[in-house]
Amino acid sequence: MAKDGHSDDRSETASNSDGLKHTRQDPELSEAEYINRYRRARRQLWVWRIVSYLLIAAVVALAVALGVIIKQKHTLEHDNVEFHNATSYAEHNTCPDFLDPGQATLQTNRKPSSDQPNIFEELHTAELAAVRDYLFSQADLNLTRSDEASVASNVLYMMELLPPPKAAALAYLDSGGQARAVLYLGYQEQPRVVEVTVGQLPNPTNYTILREIPWNTRPPNAAEYASMDQLVQQATADLEQFMAATFNGFRYYDCQFPRCLLWSDSTPRGVTNDSRQTWIWFMRLAEGFYLQPIGLEMLISHPGNDPSTWAITQIFYNGQVYQNTTQLNTAFADTTSGLNRQQVMSPLP
Ligand SMILES: *[C@@H]1O[C@H](CO)[C@@H](O)[C@H](O)[C@H]1NC(C)=O
Ligand SMILES: *[C@@H]1O[C@H](CO)[C@@H](O)[C@H](O)[C@H]1NC(C)=O
Ligand SMILES: *[C@@H]1O[C@H](CO)[C@@H](O)[C@H](O)[C@H]1NC(C)=O
Ligand SMILES: *[C@@H]1O[C@H](CO)[C@@H](O)[C@H](O)[C@H]1NC(C)=O
Ligand SMILES: *[C@@H]1O[C@H](CO)[C@@H](O)[C@H](O)[C@H]1NC(C)=O
Repeated sequence: MAKDGHSDDRSETASNSDGLKHTRQDPELSEAEYINRYRRARRQLWVWRIVSYLLIAAVVALAVALGVIIKQKHTLEHDNVEFHNATSYAEHNTCPDFLDPGQATLQTNRKPSSDQPNIFEELHTAELAAVRDYLFSQADLNLTRSDEASVASNVLYMMELLPPPKAAALAYLDSGGQARAVLYLGYQEQPRVVEVTVGQLPNPTNYTILREIPWNTRPPNAAEYASMDQLVQQATADLEQFMAATFNGFRYYDCQFPRCLLWSDSTPRGVTNDSRQTWIWFMRLAEGFYLQPIGLEMLISHPGNDPSTWAITQIFYNGQVYQNTTQLNTAFADTTSGLNRQQVMSPLP
């Protein structure tokens, strides 16, 4: 009985610790059978406990995975927006680095290196601001902020120090220096690019045209790239099927980051003053994208200051030149052309 009593004590203790209520309902059950049943129940209880812990762990893991996926998707969407923001030429500005996109706010904080800087030292921020403000205040120049400019606008392209001739150095020190600025005068029947001197620093009061270069030979600015990009957007939208099938889902028009293409251009843009043509080529968006050309190129003709007259005049792909997107699409649809089996062979980034 002592043994039984001991066993009873144990079972009582154990059942209490389990928080379970054991009552002897069947007086016929032997003590051993009762202990057996009790142990079996306990084992089962543990099995269920373990199963529940595993299920809880699985739920937590799934929740974490879902969180990670949502975050990744969110990051990807964010990257997509950021990418399109960054490559949107209209938002961009190729003004000198000291001009904020559009607002013509000075971005650099270039201070004179000392109280008596040498006379060839670049213009500092206050001088640049003075030149900019002076030029913008000239009604005859009608300068437009670069974020509001089109190709047919007058814009301030750059500003820098105009170093004095050595012989004039002393006079320069006495009277203050001059700046050189380049203006794109697109708002004219005959658009011009002029280089002007602006004097005298630090408070300019007049400007003089130093020289001119033919309009069609100028480096493009943001407004021009934006207008070129509209043509490229249109052409790549027309070629959407061909491009998606040929470049493994990499597209330019309405691309989904990171499966995006970029384009770049080259100079010179012609050999006469009347023409302005640029070959552009597409690259995959990847680290070192300049090493990822896909073999598709387009020739854009963009002379003058009226983008509505500009056009893509040739498309180069697979060793052949097409006159327009229709011709390329026709070749792509033609199963005998071999074009619809062309794939970019190099591995994806
Ligand atoms: C994209 O540009 C818009 C408008 O310029 C801006 O509000 C937004 O914050 C930008 N988004 C990212 C991710 O850069
Ligand atoms: C200044 O140039 C803009 C084009 O950028 C034009 O719309 C506007 O009429 C011009 N203003 C004057 C006074 O010529
Ligand atoms: C510009 O103003 C300076 C004096 O500030 C004067 O010496 C110079 O002749 C002026 N230049 C022109 C082109 O008017
Ligand atoms: C282009 O214009 C510049 C300046 O107006 C002139 O000196 C040059 O001879 C012209 N070049 C051609 C090829 O017409
Ligand atoms: C495209 O080019 C082809 C071949 O030169 C020409 O026949 C066709 O008219 C052009 N189509 C358009 C829409 O310009």
